[in-house]
Amino acid sequence: MTQDELKLAVAQAAIDNIKPAILNGEIIGVGTGSTANFFIDLLAEFKDDIKGTVASSEASAQRLRKHGIEVLELNSCGTIAVYVDGADETNERLELIKGGGAALTREKIVAAASKQFICIADGSKLVDRLGAFPLPVEVIPMARSYVARELVKLGGNPVYREGVVTDNGNIILDVYDFMIATPQKTEEQINNITGVVTNGLFACRPADVLLLGTAEGVKTLT
Ligand code: A5P
Repeated sequence: MTQDELKLAVAQAAIDNIKPAILNGEIIGVGTGSTANFFIDLLAEFKDDIKGTVASSEASAQRLRKHGIEVLELNSCGTIAVYVDGADETNERLELIKGGGAALTREKIVAAASKQFICIADGSKLVDRLGAFPLPVEVIPMARSYVARELVKLGGNPVYREGVVTDNGNIILDVYDFMIATPQKTEEQINNITGVVTNGLFACRPADVLLLGTAEGVKTLT
């Protein structure tokens, strides 16, 4: 199976999982990236049933609207029933690295506001230890150099993501060569650096369910 076929398979599995929530009139959180795009396209079939969605990026909001699916402001709805999104890396504890698409902050907000977070990923994303994928950090622009120096002190090698401005008007530093032994601690340490908006570790609020696409079929990890 190709990587795209695996992404489509996990997107379909997520749809099967959340169908009761859709039909029950719940709000659905929608992530960002190529796997989330497969999910959005499949969601279109339910556009007349969905009460509303909350998107984790402008790009996903646009794609949802193109399909005729209602996109709501997070502030105007209560708790989100379920959030579906991809990941750049996951371990077996369902701790993630996200933000390859620069949407990490809104992704973290939507995940925090959701009762359940279903992560959809092809099998290549499962790793023993997080950190081979460079860890994205969203930073207030004027703090870029200061934050980069602090990240070096923590043992990483931050690289400015040229030409990228987040939906929140900030910049991204990608931290290379970070062997992340204790994801929760690292998430908190980085978030404590003044000028950091947030980082792409989802360890304090990991996924609740991982739908992993493999050649043998979609595996469910909890
Ligand atoms: C967006 O900022 C990311 O967190 C994505 O969810 C992540 O990069 C996964 O993207 P793909 O599904 O394209 O691999």
